[in-house]
Amino acid sequence: MHIFKHSAELLDFVRHQKAQGKTVGFVPTMGALHKGHISLLEKSYSENDITICSIYVNPIQFNNASDLDKYPRMPEKDMEMIKHCCDVVFLPNNEEMYPEKPSEEYDFGHLDKVLEGAFRPGHFYGVAAVVRRLFEMTEPHNTYFGLKDYQQLLIVKSIAKQCNFDINIVPCPIVREFDGLAMSSRNLRLSKEEREIAPLIWKSLNNAAKILLQEGIEASKDFILDTFANNPSFKIEYFEWYHPEKFIPSQQSDEQFVGLMVVWLGEVRLIDNIIIKK
Ligand code: PAF
Repeated sequence: MHIFKHSAELLDFVRHQKAQGKTVGFVPTMGALHKGHISLLEKSYSENDITICSIYVNPIQFNNASDLDKYPRMPEKDMEMIKHCCDVVFLPNNEEMYPEKPSEEYDFGHLDKVLEGAFRPGHFYGVAAVVRRLFEMTEPHNTYFGLKDYQQLLIVKSIAKQCNFDINIVPCPIVREFDGLAMSSRNLRLSKEEREIAPLIWKSLNNAAKILLQEGIEASKDFILDTFANNPSFKIEYFEWYHPEKFIPSQQSDEQFVGLMVVWLGEVRLIDNIIIKK
């Protein structure tokens, strides 16, 4: 595995590979890798000649200083985990990523103003700034993003359009633990007791989907509110049904829905979603 810390050297390497006709896949991460990341890397590895993984905890996408402090960091373990499905690891530091404070502007329309955008002010600006720089530093043909961060995926597609990047963005399914909990680096911060009850998130999303189809949107939202009101270890931040493409609140007559949820379990913020088609 090649390891680069400087973007100029990485870009030289990438351009040299592309000049030889090789295809390049890219998976951006913040480390603390789990099977969800591995599934993205394995997909890239099977579809491209060269797979790059970046590991960079992007400070400007955290709207909460303690969340940034507590974000798990384990680069050696990460590198061990990805050797079978990665050719290049990019490990930039803050000066490399942001020699100057980002000041570019983006227009995401309503996309950065609702749900994650509303609850985490500035988060999507930070994601946009880092993804733009990473795309410029890696110039990939294909890039792989998990569907767990559904709204982030739409933001990334919008960045690619606004910046005219000719990059194929490949959405990848959520990878779950045996009991349905969506894989997340944040799961490491759950206590034993919290980890045991965390599968309620996915279970309640599935039940809400059934209720949506049988009894309607409001009944399914009431079900979610009741479920978490009866389980006080959880605090629900939001649960909404949205149109998966227009990303506006669903109408009962829609053909497809995405149910988007954030709950707090103790001090850990967990995100999940379910996509259904009629
Ligand atoms: O999804 C993530 O892990 C991060 O938001 C990303 C895309 C690597 C940007 O820091």
